[in-house]
Amino acid sequence: MEPKKVMLSGIKPSGELTLGSYLGAIRNWKDQADQYDCYYFMADLHAITVRQNPADLRRRTIEQLAQYIACGLDPEKNTLFIQSHVHQHAELGWVLNCYAMFGELSRMTQFKDKSAKNADNINGGLFTYPSLMAADILLYQPDFVPVGDDQRQHVELTRDIAVRFNHVYGETFKIPEPFISKVGARIMSLANPEAKMSKSENDDPGRVTLMDSPDVIMRQFKRAVTDCDACVRYDPENKKGIANLMTIYASCTGKTFQEIEKEFDGQGYGAFKTAVGEAVVELLRPIREETAHLLADKSYLESVCKNGAEKAGYIANKTLRKVYKKIGFVAKSN
Ligand code: TRP
Repeated sequence: MEPKKVMLSGIKPSGELTLGSYLGAIRNWKDQADQYDCYYFMADLHAITVRQNPADLRRRTIEQLAQYIACGLDPEKNTLFIQSHVHQHAELGWVLNCYAMFGELSRMTQFKDKSAKNADNINGGLFTYPSLMAADILLYQPDFVPVGDDQRQHVELTRDIAVRFNHVYGETFKIPEPFISKVGARIMSLANPEAKMSKSENDDPGRVTLMDSPDVIMRQFKRAVTDCDACVRYDPENKKGIANLMTIYASCTGKTFQEIEKEFDGQGYGAFKTAVGEAVVELLRPIREETAHLLADKSYLESVCKNGAEKAGYIANKTLRKVYKKIGFVAKSN
């Protein structure tokens, strides 16, 4: 039997997971486990490129793990781990820094955006972030990396670094493909339908997080930005707010845009917004409840992290040893 293809992705615990993270990414991940050997990690090393409150970072990292599981990622079928628990990430990250060019890193749009937003903290980590991300990926020799559109450039750079390294030292890294899911919906902010729903409240007053209470969710939908046309019609060019709400409603209910247009024909936006809010409340309810349940069981979550880090570390170490040998480091005797 052919070995399963490998898939890997990470999410930074730098903000709360949102409805956008769920519908756009995590929801599609749980169905991959039968077909692929899947690795998912909490990218805490990446989170500190922007200043974090330590207590919040710790809480969010654990909460994110619990949420992954609550969203259906079974730790028996997927390797779930915390990035900083597998020290090979930082080590290969350093090596790959030496194979990533200043010019390449300078061209990353995320670096340009983030340095504009954090003008008082343009640190080296923010700049070399893509080499660490390349290490995250290449350690596991994955075939596919499911990412949002905003990360595509980093995956391209990862490929360039891998090709460059392989060219100098011979076949070392598998060249991964970005995996932009066809089914995942791109969810926009409820406050500004021109921008993707963001994990951070400062960036996005129009976000809905996985942990929001039904009251908060309903309030967010009731004040969602729309237009003054009062007609529920799918027109992503001219009616971005309504198109976004329709995408959310369609993702929750499985209805088509046509069916939704029919359902709310002549009803105005009030009834529609309420229906979308209620659908989201019911979609997120089991996830919120299961997350709370898991968070109460610290020893279970610890065992998941420990097993995940052991499994990931074993694979990561194989790749790192290979790299160290190729570049001429002296092997450490055991
Ligand atoms: N950079 C990604 C983000 O900001 C998170 C990430 C870190 C990642 N390492 C990764 C994603 C490796 C995929 C693969 O969302």
